[in-house]
Amino acid sequence: MRQSFDLFFVSSNNHKYKEAKIILDSFGINLGFFKYELEEIQSSSLKEIAIKKATNAFQKYKKPIIVEDDGLFINSLSGFPGPYSSYVFKTIGNKGILNLLKQNRQAKFISIISYCDDKNSKSFEAQIDGVISKKQNGKGWGYDPIFIPKNSKKTFSEISDKNSLSHRFKALKKFSNWYLHKLESNDQ
Ligand code: IMP
Repeated sequence: MRQSFDLFFVSSNNHKYKEAKIILDSFGINLGFFKYELEEIQSSSLKEIAIKKATNAFQKYKKPIIVEDDGLFINSLSGFPGPYSSYVFKTIGNKGILNLLKQNRQAKFISIISYCDDKNSKSFEAQIDGVISKKQNGKGWGYDPIFIPKNSKKTFSEISDKNSLSHRFKALKKFSNWYLHKLESNDQ
């Protein structure tokens, strides 16, 4: 039987969708997937990038959609790689990041979730603070093997509760509060 979805996640990244699906399920929202690589504008603002991607995605699919844009911001590198996180991961990767760091290893992940339908365009931002580990630990995707969230000794790759504390979880929680309220008020 085909499942019907009210809301779609548009991304080329299966990992992000899987996590978003688990998180939104926990809030009672059934999330579908359009696997598609959206063009990214050049900008130093994650929010600007996410809003543009969401508008383009809505124009393409004509259904309520969310997109996500993230960045890993490292304090001692003045916020690098930030909006360039995807490119930096593909080029120098986790090894390259580890080679750049010395004593100060403070960092944060930021997630922007942008929603778009025929009437609304809204963005939700959240962050998680942490540190970059001294070596890669665990087998997660992206920067997971080198990011240790605050109050933990283990990387995102090694913990089982990433989806209840990550930058993605926090941004999707804000989104869900707004979205569920919108659905309720439209029903009345
Ligand atoms: P973008 O939002 O697709 O541009 O992703 C930015 C970069 O951050 C990509 O290289 C992702 O692999 C990485 N990234 C985003 N979120 C996470 C996460 O939760 N864990 C590990 N890496 C992440």
